[in-house]
Amino acid sequence: MLEIKDIKKAFDGKEILKGISFKVHDGEIAALIGPSGTGKTTLLRCINFLERADSGNITIDDISVDVKQAKKKDILEICRHSGMVFQSYNLFRNKTVLENVAEGLIVVKKKTGKEAEEIAKRELDKVGMLNHLSQYPSQISGGQQQRVSIARAMAMEPSILLMDEPTSALDPELSKEVLATIRKVAEQGVPVLIVTHEIDFAREVSHKVIFMENGLVVEEGTPREIFLEPKEERTKQFIAKISPADYQI
Ligand SMILES: Nc1ncnc2c1ncn2[C@@H]1O[C@H](COP(=O)(O)OP(=O)(O)OP(=O)(O)O)[C@@H](O)[C@H]1O
Ligand SMILES: [Mg+2]
Repeated sequence: MLEIKDIKKAFDGKEILKGISFKVHDGEIAALIGPSGTGKTTLLRCINFLERADSGNITIDDISVDVKQAKKKDILEICRHSGMVFQSYNLFRNKTVLENVAEGLIVVKKKTGKEAEEIAKRELDKVGMLNHLSQYPSQISGGQQQRVSIARAMAMEPSILLMDEPTSALDPELSKEVLATIRKVAEQGVPVLIVTHEIDFAREVSHKVIFMENGLVVEEGTPREIFLEPKEERTKQFIAKISPADYQI
């Protein structure tokens, strides 16, 4: 479970996040949508302390931190419990698929090489990459690289999986296979918070849609509520711009 409360963040005196609060429950996929420059990436980065928010609270399962007072130990705990998949593939270029997934298990989780390999293979199997263990990132497709990234994040047994536009660099076909993988992840019970421009995905797969604009959550609800019956004028305008008027759920 992830809960954030009143997260604020400014860069150079300019407030980018103006007090963001929401929850993502176990097994839930929450899609974070909103115009470019709204602070979606900044928010994900603040949740796993790649960036330090100015104030607010972050709770992941039973770990709760006040970001202002967070000590190194608290930050490490939060990092350990959140997995992140980025927009562009961030696999190690000089390591094989198997090594990419095993690495964190050895370095962070202190597993033996053999244990790490077993866990890595199990996770790679789940994303359909067991036949590519000894290939290097440059030898597999973008969609496959993203699936390895997901396996790598999942191998660490995160309490929440954060994803920042994991399919935006992919063509529709590859994008589909990655989205199917994400769906499977959530079925294992791990909550997923995903920033996405894939409106079809948000509509069909997410349980909750959070519409963010100018550093604030304008509205959140089920896909039906947000896409078909938005309450706020700003949500209506955004939805009208991004989706054909006549779709059905
Ligand atoms: N390290 C930084 N220093 C200064 N300004 C920053 C920094 N990171 C982000 N910003 C600013 O914060 C604002 C929000 O950026 P962010 O990347 O979070 O938006 P986004 O919603 O993810 O947009 P997109 O949909 O285009 O990815 C932008 O105006 C950006 O310039
Ligand atoms: Mg972004």
